[in-house]
Amino acid sequence: HRRRTAQTNYGRLSMNILILGSGGREHALAWAIAQNPRCDKLFCAPGNAGMAEVATCARLDPEDAAEVLDFCATRAIDFVVIGPEAPLAAGVSDALRDAGLLTFGPSKAAAQLEASKAFTKAICDAAGAPTAAYRHFTDAQAARDYVRAQGAPIVVKAAGLAAGKGVIVAMTEAEALAALDDMFGGAFGGAGAEVVIEEFMTGEEASLFVLTDGEAVLPLASAQDHKRAFDGDEGPNTGGMGAYSPAPIMTPEVTERALREIVQPTLAEMARRGTPYQGVLYAGLMIEDGAPRLVEFNARFGDPECQVLMMRLGGQILDALLATARDALDSFHLNWADDHAITVVMAAEGYPGSYAKGQEIRGLDAAQQDAHTKIFHAGTALADGALISNGGRVLSVSARGDSLRAARDRAYRAVDAVDWPGAMVRRDIGWRALD
Ligand code: AMP
Ligand code: GLY
Repeated sequence: HRRRTAQTNYGRLSMNILILGSGGREHALAWAIAQNPRCDKLFCAPGNAGMAEVATCARLDPEDAAEVLDFCATRAIDFVVIGPEAPLAAGVSDALRDAGLLTFGPSKAAAQLEASKAFTKAICDAAGAPTAAYRHFTDAQAARDYVRAQGAPIVVKAAGLAAGKGVIVAMTEAEALAALDDMFGGAFGGAGAEVVIEEFMTGEEASLFVLTDGEAVLPLASAQDHKRAFDGDEGPNTGGMGAYSPAPIMTPEVTERALREIVQPTLAEMARRGTPYQGVLYAGLMIEDGAPRLVEFNARFGDPECQVLMMRLGGQILDALLATARDALDSFHLNWADDHAITVVMAAEGYPGSYAKGQEIRGLDAAQQDAHTKIFHAGTALADGALISNGGRVLSVSARGDSLRAARDRAYRAVDAVDWPGAMVRRDIGWRALD
């Protein structure tokens, strides 16, 4: 595997680059990559209204390997960056690499670390990585009996990809049993035919992102997101309503432990199985008394955590992604500014439930005049020249500062300058780190 990565573009000074995806994460990647002088033409597929400002958006299905390959051939693409998990699970990275294209993103086999919770648990067992005790069920009655025997709180997870909705943290036995009825009743489609039931872990959550070429590991800065919809970390789970970097809970000691006890043994186990992991590995951690335990792995950057990392890294990210894809991370260094970044998500009222689309949004230019502020688009579109909302999470209003407080004040000034009455915004992003 290792020497099969395309070497043909090595050393080329300018490259045509394609980013797959259309969220705030991909806009942040596009914005940062476009700052690197190595980037010649930049394409995004399918992209969004914000990405169209730095890249050419292409109408193609990022999960359709044949379509992506065809596009790469006609546009002379040198490097493909895969943002979301769905193209990974669909095998697009394998198809691109097989065709000799330099690609950032793990193979389908390696991306099982995100796609299959049962697989991840088996890897943790083999690697000795600390995580919640669990059992894996395909039989509804056996799962119910286990929940009754364990009692609440307890966590019920659909074993496959469920678009972030397949996790029920049940505070009562009744809630857990209802979740099992839903999952075995097909509420999550194919993803619910298998269920993982986990011990409920307490502590504070943070995310650790590392780049890895399969052997060398380059930890990125820490970041923490706010998953709940409402202030005070209350309300339903979302994809993330805001994030900040660095995350003080990730002290150098906790980071070192997470690398040594969780990330490195996992990567070694993946390599041992003949499916080395290459790309960004996102370890969601639960930290209690300085001890990290794994909540989940993702095979992609977090969204909106990526936005704060890109604010702090800028154009360097392209060199880092290239070094990852070329098995050249062992001699690679990043220069992190000694600063802070924060992002505040502006979502459509009602998210993560049902919400309206098509509302006009004004004032973005005026809101991001200062050089330390950037508004990334997630669910936006253009209609007759007007910017409209087109998704649940719509904007990711991001800012840097010498302190988290300075970054936060800047970000909220920009939020307040955006003219979109239908927005839902948390006012307390970063509170754990500011208190
Ligand atoms: P996941 O999709 O596995 O990241 O789960 C979504 C969220 O559910 C996590 O970010 C945690 O807040 C929570 N969660 C998942 N597993 C557990 C667990 N074993 N104990 C406590 N909370 C959990
Ligand atoms: N912000 C969490 C995620 O991207 O899954």
